[in-house]
Amino acid sequence: MRTMQIAIDGPAAAGKSTVAKIVAEQLGFIYIDTGAMYRAATLKALTAGADLTDGEALSALLKNVDIRLEPGEQGQRVYLDGQDVTEEIRTDQVTKSVSEVAAHREIREQMVQLQKELAEGRGVVMDGRDIGTRVLQDAGLKVYMIASAEERAQRRFEENRTRGIRTPLDVLKMEIEKRDRMDSERKESPLVQAQDAVLIDTTSLTVPEVASRIIGLAKERLN
Ligand code: CDP
Ligand code: CDP
Repeated sequence: MRTMQIAIDGPAAAGKSTVAKIVAEQLGFIYIDTGAMYRAATLKALTAGADLTDGEALSALLKNVDIRLEPGEQGQRVYLDGQDVTEEIRTDQVTKSVSEVAAHREIREQMVQLQKELAEGRGVVMDGRDIGTRVLQDAGLKVYMIASAEERAQRRFEENRTRGIRTPLDVLKMEIEKRDRMDSERKESPLVQAQDAVLIDTTSLTVPEVASRIIGLAKERLN
């Protein structure tokens, strides 16, 4: 089968990574979680006690950072300077700081460069905020995935429940909306639907429904 690049963007908890993994597996492509890369960079900054408002200092700290995404037995593992940080990058503290780190031009340039290298010449499903508008501008298929804020908060709530985390639903909703706002209003590569992206509202769709819709679109374009 021929390969293609699939870009999936959208706000937090719209279902991008869950669906992207399934699509990649079904099509035999690799999956690249760009959010995990910004999260790993944020973890490094927090651990170093860096000033998150200073893009230049952050860029110097992260200059030779080694961020790797590798397949593991239970999904993708994330390595930061050789250490497995797959769980650590999902903590509340990282989630609350990541949009601030990701807003800096210097950090974005570094991450985008790495993301382009990882995708070069391969069948790939990549998800994030600026994939269709910046990282993979020539992607064969671009999807912009949305869902209502209530539904997205509910999804995070359910996920947290299975991990024993009990943040109230209204707090989750507020945090999600705040992060969406920061991601959409920043100057550098804000979250926005690419002109040529297919919009999918997942509010009342199941994961298999969304995945099969994207796989259908991909197959249409591959043929
Ligand atoms: O999975 P979740 O929606 O919680 O977020 P994520 O995909 O892990 O991304 C975390 C944060 O990284 C986002 O809120 C953005 O601030 C940033 N990000 C970005 O700026 N550009 C990307 N391509 C991916 C993530
Ligand atoms: O990557 P993103 O932040 O957009 O979302 P995610 O990390 O994939 O989380 C979405 C959550 O909503 C997961 O727990 C999914 O099982 C669930 N979900 C979904 O992704 N898509 C639906 N259509 C329905 C539920």
